[in-house]
Amino acid sequence: MDEIVSLTKRRGFVFQGSEIYGGLAGTWDYGHYGVALKENIKKLWWDMFVQKMPNMYGLDSAILMNEQVWMASGHTGAGFTDPLLECEKCKKRFRRDHLEDIEKCLECGGTLGGERDFNLMFETVVGAQGGVRSYLRPETAQGIFVNFKNIIDTMRPKLPFGIAQIGKAFRNEIAPRDFIFRSREFEQMEIEYFVEENTWEQEYEMWRGLVWEFLTRLGLKKDNIHELEVPKEDRAHYSKRTIDFEYDYPHKRDELFGLAYRADFDLMNHIKGSGEKLVYRDADGKEIVPHVIEPTFGVDRAVMAVLCDAYTVDEADGKTRTVLKFSRELAPVKVAVFPLLKNKPELVVKARLVFDMLRTEMACEFDDNGNVGKRYRRQDEIGTPWCVTVDFDTLEDDTVTLRDRDSGEQQRVTIADLPSRLV
Ligand code: GAP
Repeated sequence: MDEIVSLTKRRGFVFQGSEIYGGLAGTWDYGHYGVALKENIKKLWWDMFVQKMPNMYGLDSAILMNEQVWMASGHTGAGFTDPLLECEKCKKRFRRDHLEDIEKCLECGGTLGGERDFNLMFETVVGAQGGVRSYLRPETAQGIFVNFKNIIDTMRPKLPFGIAQIGKAFRNEIAPRDFIFRSREFEQMEIEYFVEENTWEQEYEMWRGLVWEFLTRLGLKKDNIHELEVPKEDRAHYSKRTIDFEYDYPHKRDELFGLAYRADFDLMNHIKGSGEKLVYRDADGKEIVPHVIEPTFGVDRAVMAVLCDAYTVDEADGKTRTVLKFSRELAPVKVAVFPLLKNKPELVVKARLVFDMLRTEMACEFDDNGNVGKRYRRQDEIGTPWCVTVDFDTLEDDTVTLRDRDSGEQQRVTIADLPSRLV
């Protein structure tokens, strides 16, 4: 884990939040390559689940919502708390369910006491002069439920149908840790899939298959992923069935994505809370409250799993190297273009021409720092699948050296053939 954290910082993927002020626990900032990787993951998700599915509707709801949303959803109550223990000596706080029979403070050996339920929502005040209480949303899902009627009225969907959104969520985690695995500000990609009650089991199985398909598209090794049927006592307050898709992270096997059957819990509670008719009218004109299957995907956990899976130390060109073996689809940079020597203007001009041609079609980088060996090392650590070098032969015959990240193999190809080779 330390090596991955250090690589992602050194190469501009992820930085500690507010670093120059000593940081803020549970917050992370994504740099150039981190944002690109994250965007590629979100693009893949949107393409697969929204664009290519005929019955899916996109949404981008507000982070701040009326306080009553969270009262109706059960998040202000006991359902959305973690058990907190505080050290009587050093005041450090721990999650009881993470301690496993440990009675003393892990920091100073002091006595742990005063167990209480700690609500994970960040509270804030909206408006001047007193204002009204609100919360930073702890899940994007509620924005979907409160827009159920709007989608029904404007899109006229037929059951089964889904509403999908990607956005930030916030939880005041007692112990944020393990890099971007558990943070206080993170991003989710969520789908609420509305079904008839008597079909929920078959729809659940369909989604189970689709989650696996997405995991495969992320390029994750199958052996590193495991399904966990979550027992009743560990399930969220709204769920009648949950499968956690777990990943073998360096810190331990832990949750990556989830698939829950929320039944009619949320729509029924919002009907009670708002007094609105959140119903679907079937072909016979009968009004029903649909049931819900919820596949939920943490963006940051996906980034972390993809980074861990791609991280490889092997040999290339007779030397040990570190390489991120991202899939071509997810790699932040697809190809890097180099002039063999930076002090030969004719090579630099030609390499710039190749760069200008390629960058209109794919994420592309120009690099003339250090020698070619050093540039390969850098691109390997960023996970760039191809490097193209312009040399003196290029000036004669318009061919370049194309180097493959994984095998280290180099081939001579013509510039005109490059776009078709880089797929
Ligand atoms: N709407 C359902 C829901 O929010 P969840 O299991 O609490 O369910 C969904 O969260 C996903 O969000 C998780 O599977 C995980 O990927 C991500 N997630 C949850 N808490 C997180 C945290 N503190 N830091 C990073 N990601 C988190």
